[in-house]
Amino acid sequence: MAPNYLLVLFTTLGHALAGFVHPGLMHSQSDFNRMAQKVAAKQSPWIDSFNVLVSNGHASLGYNPAPQAWAERGSGCQDNSVYVMNDAAAAYQTALIYKITGNTSYANQAIRILNGWAYTLKGIGCNASTSWDYQLMAGIQGYQFANAGEMMRNYSGWNTTDFANFQNWMVQVWYPICFYPFAQQVYANWDLMCIAQHQAIGVLADNQTMFNDAVNYFQAGVGNGAISQTVYHVHPGYYGQGQEAGRDQGHNTLDISMLTVIAQQAWNQGVDLYGFSNNRILSISEFTAKANLIQPGTNGSYYQVPWVPYIYNVWPTIYWDTSLSTNSIGANRPTWACIYHHFVNVKGIAAPYTGQQMQNQGAEGTQSNWGCCSGSFDQLGYETLTCSLDPIAYRSPPSGLSWSLVAGNVSISWWGTVNATSYNIVRAPQGGTYVPAASGITDPLTYNEQAPSPGIYYYVAVARPDNIWSQPLQVNANPQALILYYTFDASSGNTVADSSGNGNDGVLNGNGAWVAGKINNGLKLDGSTGYVSLPGTILQSLSDFTIASWLYMTGWQNNQRLFDFGYGAERCMWFSPTTCNINSCNGSSTFQITYNGGADKTQLVNTPANLNTNQWLHIAVVRYGNLTQLYVNGNVVNSNSYIYLQPFQLGQGTNNIAQYWIGRSQNSGDSHLAGIVDDFRLYQGALTAAQISALASMSGK
Ligand SMILES: *[C@@H]1O[C@H](CO)[C@@H](O)[C@H](O)[C@H]1NC(C)=O
Ligand SMILES: *[C@@H]1O[C@H](CO)[C@@H](O)[C@H](O)[C@H]1NC(C)=O
Ligand SMILES: *[C@@H]1O[C@H](CO)[C@@H](O)[C@H](O)[C@H]1NC(C)=O
Ligand SMILES: *[C@@H]1O[C@H](CO)[C@@H](O)[C@H](O)[C@H]1NC(C)=O
Ligand SMILES: *[C@@H]1O[C@H](CO)[C@@H](O)[C@H](O)[C@H]1NC(C)=O
Ligand SMILES: *[C@@H]1O[C@H](CO)[C@@H](O)[C@H](O)[C@H]1NC(C)=O
Ligand SMILES: *[C@@H]1O[C@H](CO)[C@@H](O)[C@H](O)[C@H]1NC(C)=O
Ligand SMILES: *[C@@H]1O[C@H](CO)[C@@H](O)[C@H](O)[C@H]1NC(C)=O
Ligand SMILES: *[C@@H]1O[C@H](CO)[C@@H](O)[C@H](O)[C@H]1NC(C)=O
Ligand SMILES: *[C@@H]1O[C@H](CO)[C@@H](O)[C@H](O)[C@H]1NC(C)=O
Repeated sequence: MAPNYLLVLFTTLGHALAGFVHPGLMHSQSDFNRMAQKVAAKQSPWIDSFNVLVSNGHASLGYNPAPQAWAERGSGCQDNSVYVMNDAAAAYQTALIYKITGNTSYANQAIRILNGWAYTLKGIGCNASTSWDYQLMAGIQGYQFANAGEMMRNYSGWNTTDFANFQNWMVQVWYPICFYPFAQQVYANWDLMCIAQHQAIGVLADNQTMFNDAVNYFQAGVGNGAISQTVYHVHPGYYGQGQEAGRDQGHNTLDISMLTVIAQQAWNQGVDLYGFSNNRILSISEFTAKANLIQPGTNGSYYQVPWVPYIYNVWPTIYWDTSLSTNSIGANRPTWACIYHHFVNVKGIAAPYTGQQMQNQGAEGTQSNWGCCSGSFDQLGYETLTCSLDPIAYRSPPSGLSWSLVAGNVSISWWGTVNATSYNIVRAPQGGTYVPAASGITDPLTYNEQAPSPGIYYYVAVARPDNIWSQPLQVNANPQALILYYTFDASSGNTVADSSGNGNDGVLNGNGAWVAGKINNGLKLDGSTGYVSLPGTILQSLSDFTIASWLYMTGWQNNQRLFDFGYGAERCMWFSPTTCNINSCNGSSTFQITYNGGADKTQLVNTPANLNTNQWLHIAVVRYGNLTQLYVNGNVVNSNSYIYLQPFQLGQGTNNIAQYWIGRSQNSGDSHLAGIVDDFRLYQGALTAAQISALASMSGK
């Protein structure tokens, strides 16, 4: 079965297993062929950006590199990073001119710079202070040097000894300085630049492990460089709020630059990170581009973007980002053309605000002229030259439709398509005909209506004026649909049968016993190994929901869970009937949802009184819109009307295996549940108080 095994590896990890394509970092050989042709034909916009390139001092053949034996960056350090920044830019720019023109004077200058550094620089760090900023230099200038080396790798004037020395130098001097997560809750850009560096050195040095590790971390890591954390929250209409959006726009746009490098380097190796998790990179690009644009017709006002508070921990401080930061708003980074052209002219997906930012940049270079600030060297620049593509010839349908039930309404979003002026929504009941639901939608690309009478519907987004229909989106417009129902009435075996009719059987893992429950049998978990794992699809589309269960705790075990549904401790939602501090535990209980490891202590509901052990309790968590209510024994004991994090967003952007558990926590330090669980139900939609009360008064059938 080896071929199938390989196929599975390829499709689930998305990695090319057959070795790397060279040159294959930011630019492929076909990219260079296109640039050469466009420049030779003096065609705009390529030629305009090329003209900026050849007039940059770094690209001059008279530029003198200044390799250092030891490199530092940061306050309190002997900061000589200016040499590293300038020379990495010079190596890239001369390599680029060579690849476009074939002029070997530029090739030899690039080799002179690369060899000069590879034979001179022995280490990177900071001896005199605790600043970690040298890691930023290792990430940014590391991926830039690796790109220059990759571009020059088959130049006949770079002999094999020198090239091997360059590869070893990047692996030994640069690679180990970068690691992630740098710290679990630090800013995304630190992780992102190291992902970019590891990916780039992996390709340069033909090390698949390095490349795969970087891609895996981007897709499913635990720090803020994992795409689910970098793009913290995707709003209706697919505006992706970035992890640094409440910090300042300089760093927020830096994240766009770094995401471009990561996605472009992966794309040239056959791995589509641009498209990963429903184009999550485009969602942050559109949000960030829009937030930094002045809205026409206003007196200099920036566009409004949607917002959820972002509360996070940069030890020892808890930060509250309650709105978009206007610090450095209008940030001017040459970073939009690669993302724009990929989505618009490769995929046919509209990227209107990214496009406006790109237009505003014009034929950009970098700002990397002598003496300028470090941020000028964060990106390689010249994306107009390297990434511009001829317009796509066909119009794609709207794509990427998704839905959820929010405050009883069906809410859908979609990606737009090139040149559409607006969108209509049509809907059909299962087996029925389509009727118009809405028309003239322009921005945001989202639609929200009271659920039509319960049942299955198909929604289609129609691009105007050409009437191009998307694939139909199946929606369960049922305000109270049972997703799973475990009666726990078995008497043996490991299957936890689902009585909802949806086939969502669970599996008993570890030690559990089928014992007398509240209603017929129940499942007794042993407090150390036993738990139930649930299917990983049950939160898809879930916003309004109800979870209800009987629970009989036999002890206040350390932070035990009734349920914990998530993708690791960073992104999960749970109900814990027990709270502990270092000394003791009690029955103080909590429902909480988090997208970033629980730093946000506003997204929870606690019970006001201790829950008792050794008696049956009926527990229910009900969400309707942003209101979450906690019921004990059929009565609301507490509620929170400001829980804006939604269950369906937990799994977005992560390539991890879902860990949906009854009786076990995402935190390995917490105890398993000690007690009996019975009659566990998950509904799409909110049950009424009367319905919860009826569940809580059920006993033996
Ligand atoms: C290469 O570029 C340099 C600098 O622009 C120029 O002087 C030289 O003539 C070019 N060489 C060739 C072969 O075109
Ligand atoms: C910093 O320490 C390293 C390693 O001990 C040493 O090689 C380097 O020369 C020192 N650099 C400076 C500027 O002191
Ligand atoms: C380098 O690779 C490119 C693309 O495969 C090829 O066109 C070029 O001839 C190669 N150059 C050398 C010196 O091998
Ligand atoms: C490669 O070039 C270096 C100079 O950079 C030289 O010292 C070395 O002898 C050359 N090696 C070979 C195998 O040509
Ligand atoms: C590739 O990189 C990994 C991670 O750094 C390392 O453990 C491994 O030894 C490298 N493989 C080779 C062939 O150098
Ligand atoms: C536009 O804004 C400028 C600067 O804030 C202000 O001086 C001017 O009066 C405003 N114009 C209008 C028409 O509001
Ligand atoms: C979109 O509009 C532009 C400008 O009118 C045109 O050049 C391009 O061909 C159109 N693209 C498609 C796919 O229709
Ligand atoms: C639900 O949709 C109706 C229109 O069908 C709208 O009037 C109402 O504001 C929506 N409610 C929410 C919470 O979006
Ligand atoms: C339970 O214990 C927690 C953690 O020590 C404490 O904060 C809380 O006040 C206690 N609650 C009750 C109801 O005793
Ligand atoms: C939930 O709260 C978020 C953040 O404030 C807000 O954008 C959203 O509209 C609210 N949703 C509902 C249904 O009220």
